[in-house]
Amino acid sequence: MTTDTQTAPAPTSDKDRVKIFDTTLRDGEQCPGASMTLDEKLQVAELLDEMGVDIIEAGFPIASNGDFEAVVEIAKRVENAVVAGLARAIAGDIARAGEAVRHAEQPRIHTFVSTSPIHLAHQMRKSEDEVVDIIQATVAQARNLVEDVEWSAMDATRTSIEYLCRCVDQAIKAGATTINLPDTVGYATPEEYEAMFRDIRERVPDSDKAVFSVHCHDDLGLAVANSLAGVKGGARQVECTINGLGERAGNASLEEIVMAIKTRADAMPYVTGVNSQMLMRASRLVSAVSAFPVQYNKAIVGKNAFAHESGIHQDGMLKNTETYEIMRPEDVGVKETSLVMGKHSGRHAFREKLASLGYELGDNALEDAFRRFKDLADKKKHVFDEDIEALVEDEVATAGEAVKLAALTVIAGTGGPQRATITLDIDGRHETREASGDGPVDAIFNAIKMVIDHNATLTLYQVGAVTQGTDAQAEVSVRLEEAGKVVTGRGADTDTMVASAKAYLSAVNKLTLKRERLHAQAV
Ligand code: KIV
Ligand code: ZN
Repeated sequence: MTTDTQTAPAPTSDKDRVKIFDTTLRDGEQCPGASMTLDEKLQVAELLDEMGVDIIEAGFPIASNGDFEAVVEIAKRVENAVVAGLARAIAGDIARAGEAVRHAEQPRIHTFVSTSPIHLAHQMRKSEDEVVDIIQATVAQARNLVEDVEWSAMDATRTSIEYLCRCVDQAIKAGATTINLPDTVGYATPEEYEAMFRDIRERVPDSDKAVFSVHCHDDLGLAVANSLAGVKGGARQVECTINGLGERAGNASLEEIVMAIKTRADAMPYVTGVNSQMLMRASRLVSAVSAFPVQYNKAIVGKNAFAHESGIHQDGMLKNTETYEIMRPEDVGVKETSLVMGKHSGRHAFREKLASLGYELGDNALEDAFRRFKDLADKKKHVFDEDIEALVEDEVATAGEAVKLAALTVIAGTGGPQRATITLDIDGRHETREASGDGPVDAIFNAIKMVIDHNATLTLYQVGAVTQGTDAQAEVSVRLEEAGKVVTGRGADTDTMVASAKAYLSAVNKLTLKRERLHAQAV
């Protein structure tokens, strides 16, 4: 084994290319509280496409009109990746998925059915023979709509090999081009999962006509290990999500799969098409739009993933970084925290900085972002790359909002009662309200509610710091729930109260927009 990661030979054969299938927008978004708006989904899809992800699962079109619309818009926007839409093994689902993905350059229908005895008996209430007939009919229907059809055996790892072989055989005969064998409940061990792929590929006569795929959940913390074991067993597609977002304990994390394959090419002779230097940016974006924080010690993208605290480690690092680092931080997009610019920096330098961070803004957005950068540089001594990223993401997220924060004054402290006076800009008209509350944040939210009334429940209020130091920008996430609809708002500012007001307003704006859309649909 060598740890000289820079010199490990990269495999060249086509056979060893592992496709990355990202399901952040479907399996990830499906997890409670992680729902994203259409704009947020588009931002994530565009980044995934740019990053080199092979297949983007854009959503579950039959689930709601919003999901359908998101898959359509993503299908129109994505330039390089295959765009997949999920469908149960039901004719209506497949037709709807086909309708949504047909706008894509490379459309895929992904249809699934349960195969394990426990699912057949309790969920499907169908016999094994009936399910085989369903597979034949639904895969054939999908194949009539698109060339590229993926079939998944839900709960494959708790299904007998004999029955799984029968199902896979039927799916391939009916025209499936990808066969996915998920560990739906996160139950398998790496050895079992690898053996399952070997067995199925050996036993099913036409197995070479399809690409095999892994899809692992992390209930026992084995999702990444199982995925890699499945690849060793012959799978050449890995289904995963940014930050491991997903049902229950989540899915296999895309960044861990990509970096494990890249870093240990000596042990795993495969390649992916993902540009690993964009991993950190993707992680930050998904964390921000889903309001799911990334744990500090998360592999690859956690804040501490490249931090060295102990004296011995720091000493080693200063002598040679390879003493304690098996990957270079820059390979995953972690830059040396750099002091970027000050209040004297001009528009040109700002535009260049944005480009180096991967942002391209139109003239108006650039002007707004530049103005906000100048304001920030006035308040904050050191402006870092992370500050600029937070600022631009905030700018993009709030662009076009009908109600904006114009002014805020807060009285906080031990004396009480805490009070907030807020002025909101509603399409150019200013409205001011004053409210008290159980703490300053509560007072701010109450004041906003006096202007824009709603019945939503606050289900999340989360504060993080963009960088270190007491002058760091606070990044606040707020989640509101109203009649089953969940929206998340974000705000960043050096003043935590201002950031809180912006985040709450952003959520309320989204709620209003959602209500208007639902109303329009109903009409
Ligand atoms: O976990 C699972 O089995 C799934 C299928 C729909 C592929 O997400
Ligand atoms: Zn899943």
